[in-house]
This record gives sequence, C-alpha cells and structure tokens, in this order.
Amino acid sequence: MKRDFTAITDFSAEEIHAIFALARELKAKTKRREEHHLLKGKTLGMIFQKPSNRTRVSFEVGMFQLGGHALYLGPSEIGLGKRESTADVARVLSRYVDGIMARVFGHQFILDLAAYSSVPVINGLSDRLHPCQIMGDMLTIIEHKGKAENWTIAYLGDGNNITNSWINLARFIPMHLKIGVPEGYEPDAKLLSEARAAGTSEIELLHDPVAAAKNADVLYTDVWASMGQEDEAEARKKVFRSFAINRQLLRHAHPDCIVMHCLPAHRGDEISDDVIDSLQSVVFDEAENRLHIQKAIMVKLME
Ligand code: CP
Ligand code: NVA
Repeated sequence: MKRDFTAITDFSAEEIHAIFALARELKAKTKRREEHHLLKGKTLGMIFQKPSNRTRVSFEVGMFQLGGHALYLGPSEIGLGKRESTADVARVLSRYVDGIMARVFGHQFILDLAAYSSVPVINGLSDRLHPCQIMGDMLTIIEHKGKAENWTIAYLGDGNNITNSWINLARFIPMHLKIGVPEGYEPDAKLLSEARAAGTSEIELLHDPVAAAKNADVLYTDVWASMGQEDEAEARKKVFRSFAINRQLLRHAHPDCIVMHCLPAHRGDEISDDVIDSLQSVVFDEAENRLHIQKAIMVKLME
C-alpha cells in the first residue's frame, strides 16, 4: 500500500526518528559528494498553487541528488479543481510520476490528491499544515542541541500552518511547547486537544509574548500574514507588534536559546535584523535541512 505524507501524524514516532537518522546519513553523503541514487529513474511531480523558494528548489535538487527527476507544475498549468478536478489530476499524474508533492491553499486539495493518486503524496505546505518544514526544523534542533527531546520550544506570532505542525510533532516528541499568539489568532483547537490528549508533551497556549518566551531553548517565529493573507498584512502588523522577536524579547529566553524562522522573513516585523543575523540564529541551517529531510521522506515513501 502506498503511503502519503500529508501531515506529521501520518508517521509513527519510530518512523519519525528513522527519518531523522536517514536524513543525517544522506546529508553526510551529500557533503562528501558520495553518490546516493536511491530513487534512480524515479520522477516527482511538484504542484504549486503558491510561490516558493525553499520548497521548490530543495525538492527539485533533492530528486536530482537521489538520481531522479522533478517537474515543476506551476499555478497556471495544472489548475487543480479549476481546469480539471483534483481527483482527475491525481489519477492522471499517477500514470506518469512516482510521487507527487503539492503546495496548496486549502488542505482538502492535499487530502483529495492523496485519496485519488496511486503514488505517494507529500504536503509541501497547505493553509493548515507544513509538515516538511517542522521535520527539517527538528533535525536542525537535533544538530544544534544534541537531541530531539525535552526542549522548551516557544512559538511566537500567528497560530498558522507552522504552529499546527509543531503541535502535531509534539504528539510524538516530548517537549514543552509554548505557543504565544494574540487573542483570536490561536492554532487549530482540534489538533491542540488531540496533541494534549496524547500526553507526550506539555503544550501551553499563551497571549503574553514575554511569558511565552521565558526560559525558551528554542524561539521560533513566522510571518504574521501567510501566503493568501496579503490583504491583512497591514492590519496584522498592529495586532502582532508585541510578539516580534527582537533583542529585548530574546533576553527572557534561556541564554543558550537558538532562534528559528521557517523563512521567508519579513525583517523588522516578526524578527529584527540583529536577531536573525545573530550567532543564536539557525535560520539558514533550517533552510538547508529542508533538502536533507525531504530526501529522507521521499526515500521512505518512494523507494
Ligand atoms: N519555508 C518555506 O517553505 O519556504 P518557501 O515558501 O520559499 O518554499
Ligand atoms: N505561514 C507561512 C509559511 C511560509 C513558509 C505561509 O503559509 O505563508
């Protein structure tokens, strides 16, 4: 049976740890320029309803390094649900490619692609979730802090696809997840209650940015207006201002705290230049690790 990666919850804790291990092995091989053509002759179709730098480039380069090929299918080409039904797109692509990666607006597009394709479907971001990002982020934490478990991870900003994916990961990896968001911008309530019920992690929802940042080992933020919310950007700046990660806020975190951002960053809004460019920032390691983690995910699903 084919497997998909629509959400972190599609994998077990054991599989998540195996993916981190494989990503580290593939990263080492890539650095040594050692050939690792585990997906030789295989093809990935990449559907994009939204723009991208990291996701597009890391999947395409990743497939090349694995001996395969990736095709970019932009917003004007496939027309998911417009030119053709999502189900028919899935059925047709399944006859050509060995895997589908999709970046979409509504999460239902991902679920429909997964339901109707006979090849694995990978979520490259939906309005609801960004699982590849958070897997790469945890790989970055392991590299910088030596292990995955039991860190205090503070997320500040909008309760969005990034927040929801952190909540999902907290079901499998023990952490103290502190989510600091303005009132009205909370993450998905159902995912939150499911993660709390799993009992693996302590998850706090706070409306005070200083309380959220206090003693954090990892301080994480994301844009205040996600792709598709551009019209709200100016209004959101006012609501989110006190949740910005700057030198002042960083003082409340643990002295060894690392700072993370999935990028693209709006410098001067959710994060200041002196923080994102500081020695505590690991944002470009995160960006690099998208490549290594996604190669491991593709090998797991498509080998
Ligand atoms: N972090 C991330 O997904 O970046 P892109 O939007 O550039 O792909
Ligand atoms: N929350 C952001 C993440 C970008 C990688 C967005 O959806 O635009």
